[in-house]
Amino acid sequence: MSIINKAAAIGGGVIGAGWVARLLLNGIDVAIFDPDPEASRKVGEVMKGARRAYKQMLPGGLPKEGKLTFAKTIAEAVADADFIQESVPERLDLKHKVLAEIDAHAPANAIVGSSTSGIKPTDMQVAMKKHPERLVVGHPFNPVYLLPLVEIVGGEQTFPEAIEVAKELYASIGMKPVVVRKEIEAFVGDRLLEAAWREALWLVKDGICTVEELDDIMRYSFGLRWAQMGMFQVYRVAGGEAGMRHFMAQFGPCLKWPWTKLMDVPEFNDELVDLIATQSDEQAHGLSIRELERIRDDNLVAIMEALSKQNKGKGWGAGALHKDYTRELAKLAAKKAPAKAVAKAKATKPAKKAAKPAKVEKPAKAGKADKAKKSGKKKG
Ligand SMILES: NC(=O)c1ccc[n+]([C@@H]2O[C@H](COP(=O)([O-])OP(=O)(O)OC[C@H]3O[C@@H](n4cnc5c(N)ncnc54)[C@H](O)[C@@H]3O)[C@@H](O)[C@H]2O)c1
Repeated sequence: MSIINKAAAIGGGVIGAGWVARLLLNGIDVAIFDPDPEASRKVGEVMKGARRAYKQMLPGGLPKEGKLTFAKTIAEAVADADFIQESVPERLDLKHKVLAEIDAHAPANAIVGSSTSGIKPTDMQVAMKKHPERLVVGHPFNPVYLLPLVEIVGGEQTFPEAIEVAKELYASIGMKPVVVRKEIEAFVGDRLLEAAWREALWLVKDGICTVEELDDIMRYSFGLRWAQMGMFQVYRVAGGEAGMRHFMAQFGPCLKWPWTKLMDVPEFNDELVDLIATQSDEQAHGLSIRELERIRDDNLVAIMEALSKQNKGKGWGAGALHKDYTRELAKLAAKKAPAKAVAKAKATKPAKKAAKPAKVEKPAKAGKADKAKKSGKKKG
C-alpha cells in the first residue's frame, strides 16, 4: 500500500502522464503542472489507456482513483506534496529552472524524483539552493503505469536517507526500484538501449535489414528471453551444463572480431531519418499510435500475467512482482466498496484507526536528511 499522501507531477507528457496514471490508480491524489494547453487532454488519453490495462489486471474492480488537480504554477502543484516527480523535456537548463522552483516551494521533507533518461543528478541538484540532498533520479520506462522498473540514482549531494525513502516510495506504488551503484550518464538501462539503438541504426542505414526485419529478429528470439531472465542468466544457460565460465570462454574472444560498430554513431541526417521513418510507417500497417499503445499494453499485461503463474505459482521475475502488486491493488479496491460500513466502524473505534496511517510516517523520514545535513553527514 502506498506511503505517499499527496504527489505532484511536473510535466505531463509521455512520461509525466504515465506517472500520473500509476499514482492515481494507486488511489493517490496528484497535482500536476504543465504549461501545454493540451496537457489535460493528453493526460486524459493516457489515463484512458492505463485504466483499460488495469481493468485487465484487476477483473474484480479498480481501487478508488486519486484526485487529479491541474495547478497553475509549479509552486501551487508542489505546495503540500510529499513526493514530486519531475518529467520535463531533457534539457539541463530547463531541468535547472524547474528543479530550482520545485525546491523553493516544496515542503522540506518532500522527496524529489527526476525522470531524466541520462543527466547526472549531481549536474541537476546544483540548481536546488534549499534542499539538494532530497533529489534522486527515478528513471522509469514507458509505459510508466505498467513497467515496474525504476532506476534510482543519487548525486554527490544526495543523502543516503533520501535514496532509502525513495526506494520505499516507488516500491509502495508497485515498482521495482534498483539503485544504481555509481552515478554515470544514462545510468544502466539507457546505456544498454543506446548501444542497441546505435547498432540498429547502422544495420538499417547499411541496408542489412529493414526496421521491420530488425524488430522481428528481436521479438521472435532474444527479446522473449530477455523479458524473463535478462542477459546474464540467459547466457549462463546458453553455456550448457558448464554455465557462465564455459559461455565466456567460448564467446569472449568474439568481442574482438569486427562484429560491431558500437563506438560510432551514423550521421543523423535527413536521409537516415527519412529511411527509418518511412520504413516505420510501412511497418505500422496503418495502426495509429494510440492503437499501437493498446496492443503494447495488452501484450505487456499478458506477459506479466503469464510470468506471475510460473515458478510453482510464486511468479518469476516481473511476474512475481506483478502478482504482489495486483494483490495489493485488489485489497485496496475491496476497501472502497464498503466505504459506508468502514466509516461507521471508524466512528465507533476512533483510537485504533488513528494509529493506522503509516502513510504520513514514511516521507517524514526525509527529515532525517535535514538532521544529517546539519551534522555535516553526507553521501560518500
Ligand atoms: N519518452 C520516454 O520513453 C522516456 C523514458 C524515460 C524517461 N524519459 C525522460 O522523461 C522526461 C520527459 O520526457 P517525455 O518523453 O515525457 O517528454 P514529452 O515531451 O512527452 O513531455 C514533456 C512535457 O513537459 C512539459 N513541459 C515543458 N516545459 C515545462 C515546464 N517548465 N514545467 C512543466 N512542464 C513542462 C511539456 O509541455 C510536455 O508535456 C525527460 O527527462 C526524458 O528524458 C523519457
